Amino acid sequence: MTTATLENTSAGSADAAIQSFTVTFLIRRYDPEVDSEPRWQDFDVEMYATDRVLDALHKIKWEQDGSLTFRRSCAHGICGSDAMRINGRNRLACKTLIKDLDISKPIYVEAIKGLPLEKDLVVDMEPFFASYREVQPFLQARTTPEPGKERIQDVASRARFDDTTKCILCAACTSSCPVFWTDGQYFGPAAIVNAHRFIFDSRDDEAKVRLDILNDKEGVWRCRTTFNCTDACPRGIEVTKAIAEVKQAIMRGKP
Ligand code: SF4
Ligand code: FES
Repeated sequence: MTTATLENTSAGSADAAIQSFTVTFLIRRYDPEVDSEPRWQDFDVEMYATDRVLDALHKIKWEQDGSLTFRRSCAHGICGSDAMRINGRNRLACKTLIKDLDISKPIYVEAIKGLPLEKDLVVDMEPFFASYREVQPFLQARTTPEPGKERIQDVASRARFDDTTKCILCAACTSSCPVFWTDGQYFGPAAIVNAHRFIFDSRDDEAKVRLDILNDKEGVWRCRTTFNCTDACPRGIEVTKAIAEVKQAIMRGKP
């Protein structure tokens, strides 16, 4: 279990004593070639308060068990590839500091829910990206600006969809949604956030098409306003508010 030790980093009176801890991680493992069901495996890892859960996963993989499988790329909260459930909450491993967790108990790490489990902490993201593609998340304008001119947008119009431009497609929102857990056909919060980003963009001409797509039985009306998505979003996007704005736009018949 968790113990604390003190380490001196260098000799001399000005040495700073940096405290390290042995932290126990319980990781939900699954190897489709061996396991019929996922199983929990514990690992003790020497950590500093400034380390992140991603650092622990690296230490386990590099020093204890090279078969541990997880996704990550940027390690700085940008690429969105390391969303996972940490102590029952969806978070990015690279943005979760050890000092913010209760290390007197084991730290539970498992794959996000609602998407097919492939191995250990890796899920099949294809259903998630299929919903994303369905909402046509790209600018569609019927006119072409004059040669050498840009599509002009005033500050207030740009601010209208600023929040939803921050999405990094990590799936923390969609995989925290109880509707998505029980109905994998539901578009899910992330697809709606990315539709919102273009529906409310004054330069785009196909808002109506996206509103029709999301007026589907698997669209925005499946949302039960549980706010799990907003709580889970590592970018602080007001996901539930964005979904509500899309619902209102559908009722108005325009953004
Ligand atoms: S809205 Fe937030 S939680 Fe959802 S995919 Fe985008 S960044 Fe991730
Ligand atoms: S590794 Fe890129 S967001 Fe965490």
